[in-house]
Parts: sequence; C-alpha cells; structure tokens
Amino acid sequence: MSDDDHSGFFPSDEEDHVGPPAGSTDAFAAGRRVREEELAIAWVREPHVESPMRFAGNDESVPIRYRSDADRVCIGATYRGESGNAGPGFERAGPRAQVSFVPSRTTAAIVTCGGLCPGLNDVIRSIVRVLMGGYGVRRVLGIRYGYAGLTDVDIAPMELSPKDVGDIHKDGGTILGSSRGFPPMDKVMDGITGLGIDILFVIGGDGTQRGGHDIHVEAQKRGVPLAVVGIPKTIDNDIPWVDQTFGFETAVAEATKVVDCAHVEARSARNGIGLVKLMGRDAGFIAAHAALASSDVDVVLIPEVAFTLDGEQGLMGHIDNLLHWNGHALIVVAEGASHHFFNQDTQRLDASGNRLYQDIGPFLREQICKAFPKASMKYIDPSYSVRSAPANAADSVFCARLGQYAVHAAMAGKSDMLVGRWYGKFTHIPLSLIHRKRKSISPRSSIWRSVLETTGQPCLLPEEVRKD
Ligand code: F6P
Repeated sequence: MSDDDHSGFFPSDEEDHVGPPAGSTDAFAAGRRVREEELAIAWVREPHVESPMRFAGNDESVPIRYRSDADRVCIGATYRGESGNAGPGFERAGPRAQVSFVPSRTTAAIVTCGGLCPGLNDVIRSIVRVLMGGYGVRRVLGIRYGYAGLTDVDIAPMELSPKDVGDIHKDGGTILGSSRGFPPMDKVMDGITGLGIDILFVIGGDGTQRGGHDIHVEAQKRGVPLAVVGIPKTIDNDIPWVDQTFGFETAVAEATKVVDCAHVEARSARNGIGLVKLMGRDAGFIAAHAALASSDVDVVLIPEVAFTLDGEQGLMGHIDNLLHWNGHALIVVAEGASHHFFNQDTQRLDASGNRLYQDIGPFLREQICKAFPKASMKYIDPSYSVRSAPANAADSVFCARLGQYAVHAAMAGKSDMLVGRWYGKFTHIPLSLIHRKRKSISPRSSIWRSVLETTGQPCLLPEEVRKD
C-alpha cells in the first residue's frame, strides 16, 4: 500500500488522521485530488432575508461577526518548497449576514441514523437551541428511529423545544432513536413534504450522508426547496475530509479504561494474556488511539495492517516472546482485522450496506488459548458500552459547536453539505465528496509509526509476503 492510497481524502501524506498533518505537506499535492469546483456548496435559494441573529446570544455588546462564502480553509495547510500555491479550500462555516428561510415560517427536522455514538444528544440539543433561541424558528421535529421515521406512520415525530432538550446531553444514545437503512425514496420525500419540512439535519455516518445527498437530489428534481445539512457521526472516525468525527474522543477514553483493566488482569497472572476487541470495521483508529493512550499494549491489530497467526514471525510467535520476556501480553484488536482470516462473505451486509464481518474476538481467544494452554486468558469486548457512553467534556464542546454551525449553514440556505472541522476550523463539505472513500490508517502514517514505537510490535508477516 502506498502513501497515496489514502491521500485523496486527507491532507496529502495523511500524516495524522484526526488533526492537522504533523509533517511537511505539499498543499498543491493535497489539493490536486479535489478541484475547487468540487468544493462548491449547493443552495436551496439565494439568501434574501437579513439574519435575525445580530448579537452573540443575548449580549448586545458582541455583534455577530458574519462569515462570507469567500472565507476558505485551505485543504493543504502547510507547504513544501516554494510552490506558494494554497490550492483549493473548503467554505468556512459560520453565521451569514443574510438567511434564506423566514424563521417564523420554517419547519426544521433532525434525524439520527446508524449505530450509536457519544454526543448524539449534544448535537440534537445544540441544533434545537440555536434554531429556536437564536433564529426564532418555531417548529422543530425530531424524526424517530432514523430515516424509517420519515415513512412509518406508526412512529410520529417528536415536537422539540429548548425545554425538551434541556439536559439530554447528560445521557448517551439519542432521544430520537436510531436505525440503519433507507426506505424507498418516494416514501421518504412524501414523508418530508407531508410534514412540511424545510430543513433536514442528518446526523450519521457515510451511508446516512449518502441518503442525505440522495434526498437533496430528489428534492431538487421535484422543485422542493429543502435544505439538507449533515453532521458527521461515527465512532470509527472514518469519514473523510474532517479532522475528526464527534464521539471519537469519548470512545477512545472509554476504550482506554477497558484496555487498562485488561492490562491489570494480564500482569497480575502468571503468563497472563489480555485481549480486548474494539469497534472499527474498516479503520482501526479507536484501537490505535486507545493503545497509545494506555501505553501498555504489546500488539495492536487493525484492518489496515495485515498479520498472520502462526510461525515464528506471526502473532503466536510474538506472544511467546512476550510471555518469555515480560511474563504477560496485552493485545488490542479492531473488529475489522478479522478480514485477514475469514473468507468474508461479501454478500452479507447490514441495513446500512456495510459488509458484516465474523467476530474476530472469540476466534482470536480460541486460537491463543489453543497455542498457550497454560496461559491465563482474559478476553474483554466493550464495544457497545464504549459507544453508548455520554460525551466527555471535549466531545460535548465539539458537538455543541457542530450543531451551531450546522444551523447557520442551513438557515443561510445551503444544502447537500456536511459541517466538519479541518485544521481546527469549521467548514462546509459537499456531501458528494464524503462517500467517495473512507478514511483509514495508512501503515506509513505518523500515527501508525507512533503505535509501533509505543508497542514495539514487529511486522507480523513472514518475510516472503512482506511488501517493501
Ligand atoms: O458505527 C460504526 C460501528 O460502530 C462499527 O464499528 C460497527 O461495526 C458497527 O457500528 C456495529 O453496529 P451495529 O451492531 O449497531 O450494527
């Protein structure tokens, strides 16, 4: 795999996947994968009403600093050499001087789709509060159980007010409920128009955002002035063109606690082996970060890096060495690492269209127990407790701000876009860019190098199959 394999959706050498690239990055190289015109954001209609948001909150001494569409955040933030070409940039998020919707006549709706993620309630709360408290929108609907709630007459939407969402951010999950899948488009559009929705906030991963894009296209086709604005959600952190997805930081913190427990168990037993399985279907960000945070992990197995079990250079050979030299071993495996072993049945998909993998955890536990019958094996799978946790402080801040920026974009009449953060600045990203490719860890990235430096793990492949 070359560096280039992941560079089309992340700063050119994808040095760091959750923040600005640490090393030298060629802005032009970063930009060449996406053309300026591909970053243009769609409009429902041109803004024509003066924004009712004139001050920050209720403080009349702090006038709002409006952003213009000309304010950009460069895709490549650092330069190599003297090319001096900043390349294309994302539209910068923020309140606009003019809006497209008359607040008193606007109905907004929020839908949460896919798996749970810390911070969902924080985002819902923030959207409701800014829409109603900031802009004076009078009707905000909470769509129940994902896109299904737009079509199923048995699950009526919730009417939301700032009071209803007052302290929901203290709880994990989503007050709206969630589900995977996308009902037939005709029914979805009928649901949207039937409810009189002018703005739809879509909180979900890449599949959900693909649905948002399709809704936008269909609305345009029907001549429905609907704004669709996405907020990127997945604990796997695999959405491209954003520094980080919300909930990821909480997920890493929760996962680290479990990894630390597994370490205590492993080092307290004679020939103790701790094995922790974490979520991460196609990207091993949670596993990599939890291992770095804990600093006690000996081996991290992720979908992006191949490994074998047997032979001196395989996982079992390495565990043997660890038991011999350290007396214990701690392994963290991301769920998607399973595709190295199972003949995956690509026909098996979940309702979101994601490939379903066999469970790597019990499989590895069995293999390790077989290879080390005298070892004390402790296996922990905290997957669902990690993602159902409430957001930590950093994620709560992030979610509150994502929700605010999403409202500013929608009220300005923007559509078919996602609110993200890039080099610490909030941005607008066309939805069409999101589903081209998922973000993942390049084995040559600085984050993987840090993992290798921390764990000291060798390449777990025999010489003859290693790639240079
Ligand atoms: O949202 C992504 C994710 O967390 C993946 O890591 C995982 O494979 C999937 O959700 C599992 O979700 P569920 O069991 O709800 O389908």
